[in-house]
Amino acid sequence: MLALPMIALAGNIKSPNGNIEVKFSVDNTGRPVYEMTYKGREVIKPSHLGLELAKDKHASKGMDETNLIDGFSIAKEETSTFDETWRPVWGETATIRNHYNELAATLLQADTKREILIRFRVYDDGVGFRYEFPQQQALNYFLIQEERTEFAMAGDHKAWWLPGDYDTQEQETQETRLSEIRECMKKAVNWNNSSVAIFSETGVQTSLQMKSQDGLYINIHEAACQDYATMHLELVDDQTKAFTTKLGGGSNAYTPSPKPSAYPLPQPFTFVSHLTPDATGLKGAMQTPCETPWRTVMVSDDARDMLANNLILNLNEPCKIEDTSWIHPTKYCGVWWEMIVGKSSWNYTDDFPSIKLDKIDWNSVKPNGRHAANNEKVKRYIDFAAKNGLDEVLVEGWNVGWEDWANMWKRDVFDFVTPYPDFDIKMLNEYAHSKGVKILMHHETSSSSQNYERHIKEAFELMNKYGYDAVKTGYVGDIIPRGDHHYSQSMNNHYLYVVKEAAKHHIMINAHEATRPTGLCRTWPNLVGNESARGTEYEAFGGSNPDHTCILPFTRLQGGPMDYTPGIFVTKLSEWSDNPSWARITLAGSLALYLTMYSPLQMAADLPENYEKFDDAFQFIRDVACDWDDSKYLEAEPGDYITVARKAKGTDNWFIGGKCDENGHTSVIKLDFLDKGRKYECTIYADAKGAHYETNPQAYTISKRVVKAGDILKLKEAPGGGFAVSLIAK
Ligand code: NOJ
Ligand code: CA
Repeated sequence: MLALPMIALAGNIKSPNGNIEVKFSVDNTGRPVYEMTYKGREVIKPSHLGLELAKDKHASKGMDETNLIDGFSIAKEETSTFDETWRPVWGETATIRNHYNELAATLLQADTKREILIRFRVYDDGVGFRYEFPQQQALNYFLIQEERTEFAMAGDHKAWWLPGDYDTQEQETQETRLSEIRECMKKAVNWNNSSVAIFSETGVQTSLQMKSQDGLYINIHEAACQDYATMHLELVDDQTKAFTTKLGGGSNAYTPSPKPSAYPLPQPFTFVSHLTPDATGLKGAMQTPCETPWRTVMVSDDARDMLANNLILNLNEPCKIEDTSWIHPTKYCGVWWEMIVGKSSWNYTDDFPSIKLDKIDWNSVKPNGRHAANNEKVKRYIDFAAKNGLDEVLVEGWNVGWEDWANMWKRDVFDFVTPYPDFDIKMLNEYAHSKGVKILMHHETSSSSQNYERHIKEAFELMNKYGYDAVKTGYVGDIIPRGDHHYSQSMNNHYLYVVKEAAKHHIMINAHEATRPTGLCRTWPNLVGNESARGTEYEAFGGSNPDHTCILPFTRLQGGPMDYTPGIFVTKLSEWSDNPSWARITLAGSLALYLTMYSPLQMAADLPENYEKFDDAFQFIRDVACDWDDSKYLEAEPGDYITVARKAKGTDNWFIGGKCDENGHTSVIKLDFLDKGRKYECTIYADAKGAHYETNPQAYTISKRVVKAGDILKLKEAPGGGFAVSLIAK
């Protein structure tokens, strides 16, 4: 370790255009403090940084000091500037500029002789900072009790929040003031989710979108979360007595750590980081040299900038996959919605309440007659995909084990290689390939992560053998090994292990129920999708609010694309099933989601027969691209409306989508982004007069005209509706 002079410094650093400024110092107790402004307005008031370590019974003598909170002085400060433009393998734009000013402050804790570094990157649209722990005698292995990063808000902002939870994000977003979070928490939780683990009456998830009373949009999230637990935020309000109170409920609700933090509570309206624990209640096991993920604060006075922001991708490392030619944007349909809705089943037989994979002869069991992943049906989906230019067909329930997959403690649930007797894996893949279509693999792990790791090599080899190049993984239920959580350090390591193993096999990953994304898809672009929020499946479980999709791009999508599985045309499910639930969206609104919910992986989720009834509207799903050279957010307000125009990769064609909440919206779109002097065939799919997400969802109109740069489109969106436009260059 370096012998560093004990000098107190304070650093100020501005973003390249000067709009954002960060001030950094240590206070009179040696606690690191930062603050942040945007155009001179307070975004983060002075807030402490630091970590509490846990006593490590294996630590050598003198190494069991747990304080990484105070007693620091700034030993060194370095500033630098960085400016590069990089090309994502897939994305919303062909190139991304990564331009920031950096401040790296080395801090020395005199009593322990420990050294940490806090690095700030200040962009024009936000700030990222992280803790780094260099290799040193006095700090090598350490356990984290809690990270104590504070984000002091300047007022009682409006917030779009999800209950902080160690295991699920599949909840409706709440829109309240910060001061109302506590009273709304209990009703905000859907306790029926397959694993709920709430930790506090004021704990919320990131990415957290806020709006100040004077119109600043502020978003807190994290970037590059690897080998570290997912961060939540615990709000200190005027009722907070100590961190981490117990709320209870759910299948594995958390018992809080017995000892409240010894450090004083910050002022009300301060968020404090709260990491996801592992099965022992600890928040992380670290070895130097190492670092935390980036803590991010994005800010603008224009909501559209929040959606165009690339801060989180930029804070991730460049792509680590050398040959990316096998990674491709994908449109797919699937043997899926009919199981979610309850008309058919994943399992093959209903005869056994439990099965052991090695003790059953599948050829002699009685089929239930509802098993959807059968040769005939899969061929029908392949034909549908081939006819409509869809790249892949997801088939769920193809493999043995679904009879008792949802048993919470079953360890050896699936082997990921044995098909049910009515799914001829060789024949179906050959049939698909002969029509230019691929089958999209499905690996539900039932959250038995060790079981998946044990089988993953054979599972990926099987995929390579039959020509699958993408897999949807799933983590329904409580994590096995027991007591662990979906968003812990060890599970985050598991998800990344799967992505890296998949890359070796040239396989793309779409992980459901995994941890919320933090931009790792820049480094590992075979991570083409995640669920990690309430997806379309909830339209079959009672429905989601019409504004849900006008919030997700501000929150969940900040870290990476979502496999939202849009495209429900027959929204009243009772029209074709016994399910009374219905999707709160118009048909034209469903088309808009292919633009507003950016993803390189897009599903056409409804049944082929439902699409065949509305073939003229389905033309938009056939035509729309899912990889882009450019994107322009034209209108946006969280929870109200989003309008975006995107230029399809490698073409001169544009597509525009507009989606609104339950109040309807009128969009005025100036086509000033089109090439001058060029004509475009414009097809508009819009809500018809009288359309309404509840009473008249299938009322749409399709109109065509020729347009040019500078023309104006005025489009009316119905309550819960939207529109989709294709502009094909002539
Ligand atoms: C939950 C996923 O979100 C859904 O898409 C999938 O069909 C089921 N799990 C079964 O794996
Ligand atoms: Ca799910």
